[in-house]
Amino acid sequence: MAGTVRTALPTRDIRHDSGVLALPKAPRVRVPVLGDLLRLRSDLLNAIQYAASSGSDVSHFKVGPKSMLFVHRSAAADVVLSDIHTFGKPDAKNPLRAVLGDGLVSNPDHEDWLQRRRALQPMYSRPSIAGMRQKLASVAAECTRRWEHHDRTVLNVYEEMLSFTLDSVSTCMFSRSGDTVSDIVTPATASFLLDFVERRIRKPFSLPVGVPTRRHRHFTSTLRGLDDLVHGLIDERRRTGEQHGDLLDILLSAGVGDAAEPLTDREIRDEILTTILAGYETTASALTWILYLLACYPEVQRQIRQEIRSPASTSGKGPRSGTVLECAINESMRLFPPSPTIPRQANKDALIGSAEVPEGSFVMLNVAAIHRDPTVWEKPDEFIPERFANGTPGKGTYLPFGAGAHMCIGKGFAMMEISMLVENVLDKFEISLRDSAGPEPRALITLRPRDGFELTLTRI
Ligand code: HEM
Repeated sequence: MAGTVRTALPTRDIRHDSGVLALPKAPRVRVPVLGDLLRLRSDLLNAIQYAASSGSDVSHFKVGPKSMLFVHRSAAADVVLSDIHTFGKPDAKNPLRAVLGDGLVSNPDHEDWLQRRRALQPMYSRPSIAGMRQKLASVAAECTRRWEHHDRTVLNVYEEMLSFTLDSVSTCMFSRSGDTVSDIVTPATASFLLDFVERRIRKPFSLPVGVPTRRHRHFTSTLRGLDDLVHGLIDERRRTGEQHGDLLDILLSAGVGDAAEPLTDREIRDEILTTILAGYETTASALTWILYLLACYPEVQRQIRQEIRSPASTSGKGPRSGTVLECAINESMRLFPPSPTIPRQANKDALIGSAEVPEGSFVMLNVAAIHRDPTVWEKPDEFIPERFANGTPGKGTYLPFGAGAHMCIGKGFAMMEISMLVENVLDKFEISLRDSAGPEPRALITLRPRDGFELTLTRI
């Protein structure tokens, strides 16, 4: 990698001890059972940092009838991710199923999941992603064009990134502009649903959704809005008979299993919602943290700008291995993994190292801790993009997209989306911090800035 990247934390700019590059600090005192419950109820990020502070490879949480095991080290994570028959997706009671049904992310049935994954795979193949380049480039250019009207623009970063990623996924996967869906899929809708699900994961007991509390009613009506939107998309495509070569076409024509049965409307609905929700918040989170880090490190900005403007540039084609851009994106997702935990459930009694895992236990891979394991990563709290110039240190060490059979199907699309947006921004603007305090991370299934945050864009 050309040039030097600042490795020390600029302490004047960065509030190191309250959640900028450092994650929130965990308390040292452990109160059994009730303490676990309170800690888990307060905030997921706090809980996983608390669990990792034990210093061991794994730690147990017992909350009511639920037994949870947090995995903080790479070797143990690799054991879990490489054995999908023992450590499967959480079972039928997984609260995420209330929203995403049996879509790829939350489907607990291995055989059913495998058939669907095979059916959807062509959409995410290399040639297919390459074919979306043009569409993605237009969405990215349109997004940054909005900020060009002034010499200096203050950007509410997370909100803007949500709008961009919703537009990208709607345009590329369903051939609809983000405007069509943005009345229904708003940042508030997504936050509410994720918060609802996330709290139910952490709570030992929850009332059934059918019990008409105010929150449950809001949940049901939000979900109904999403269902109407998705069924509208399906009906319209069937009515017009148009072919766009997009994910909706694939879902409508897919034959699943030996009998090549078509997917039911319910199954198509589950995959559409899964794609929107899995592909929207995660990518917006990734973009938010990379733009923040680039604002902290103007030298890295300069290197990437130089790279995209060089005659040999592959700008607009997705990140190329070993470029400063790709290294910076990887390093950003190491420090701030958009999915800070990956959930599994033990289908039978098992062992992770010497830790006993009784059948039915939840196993949470603590990606945020694995990515800062000091035995794997030198100076783990610092932003050092060039550490990725020669790839990753080994199996289980770097998991922003998971690993193994369930690895993110949208990885190629997401990386293309992220690099297109960053290239567009850096080609037109200098990014700088507006507030020296920086954003504080909060985990709501995805890692997002707690109160949003703003960056300044100055036209070059
Ligand atoms: C930076 C952006 C993204 C991140 C960090 C991310 C992260 C992840 C992770 C960690 C998993 C694995 C979950 C597990 O093992 O249980 C996953 C799975 C998945 N992701 Fe992504 N994702 C991103 C973008 C996307 C996009 C853009 C899409 C679709 C357009 C997508 C669709 C999916 C689906 C469908 C799965 C389930 C795969 C399976 O179990 O077969 N993701 N993602």
